[in-house]
Amino acid sequence: MSMQHFLADSDFDNTQLTQLITQAIDIKNNLPKYQNALAGKTVAMLFEKPSLRTHVSFDFGINKLGGHSLYLGQQNGQLGERERVKDVAKNLACWSDAIVARVFKQSVLDEMAEHAGIPVINALSDLYHPCQALADYMALTETFGQLNGLNLCYIGDGNNVSNSLMLMGPVLGVNVTVISPVGYEPCAKMVDKAQALAKANGSTLTITTDINAAAEQQVIYTDTWISMGDNTKVEQILQTFMPYQVNKTLMEKAGASALMHCQPAHLEQEVTTEVFDSDKSLAFLQAENRMWAQNSVLVNLLAD
Ligand code: NVA
Repeated sequence: MSMQHFLADSDFDNTQLTQLITQAIDIKNNLPKYQNALAGKTVAMLFEKPSLRTHVSFDFGINKLGGHSLYLGQQNGQLGERERVKDVAKNLACWSDAIVARVFKQSVLDEMAEHAGIPVINALSDLYHPCQALADYMALTETFGQLNGLNLCYIGDGNNVSNSLMLMGPVLGVNVTVISPVGYEPCAKMVDKAQALAKANGSTLTITTDINAAAEQQVIYTDTWISMGDNTKVEQILQTFMPYQVNKTLMEKAGASALMHCQPAHLEQEVTTEVFDSDKSLAFLQAENRMWAQNSVLVNLLAD
């Protein structure tokens, strides 16, 4: 399978995504087979925003495959301020085999990919979080045995995480429902794109503001109500979002056997402590799988 970059969920078809997940599971279960897969390779990791899981899972993951990574934080300010984005990319390409970047704007990633001449991996942008979605669908494959026909319901803010889930899921045969408060729905352009992918792949995508749509769902997924870089105070949105909290009653009403969260979790806001800590929670399987899923992407992009 030839992949140039890993920038947006909608860039990949069912075969490519299935192969990435199958390989991620293989790397997880047969690590010694892959321990030199990235030998001699260097990966530059640029972060414009904070990170725990992404930073550590990329760093340790690359190390486990014999490669070397370098973390570049915000010491140079926002990308594009000190020098042009394309020059940052071209400089990094002088010494690196790939760039991993967490950015405020997807357009910055696209610009880097255009000029770098080496693979660029999206480690979260305003629009997508594809490494997260890949790890999540890997976790669901392991948990349910297969993805085809699974019902996943995302509840909360229409954001980068819900975009990735609704773009990638239907391609993999997952029926996705996104429930958000009025005014916080996913943007129309993303919904149109995801609807087209769902139709082409024989799955369904439902976008609604009605919390009662959380019925007959195997999986409930939620994320922060306020994403990084959004300065809204939680008190300002609490009333609007509280009816959308994922709690025990909601899980029971939905008939869900799994709770997913990309973390960091804001306990007693988008999810109760009781549900997050329950045996239904896949949050730490998702976190672990970040490393294996990203390694699968790196092996595809970089292995000789
Ligand atoms: N939607 C969240 C995801 C954090 C992993 C954010 O962008 O902050």
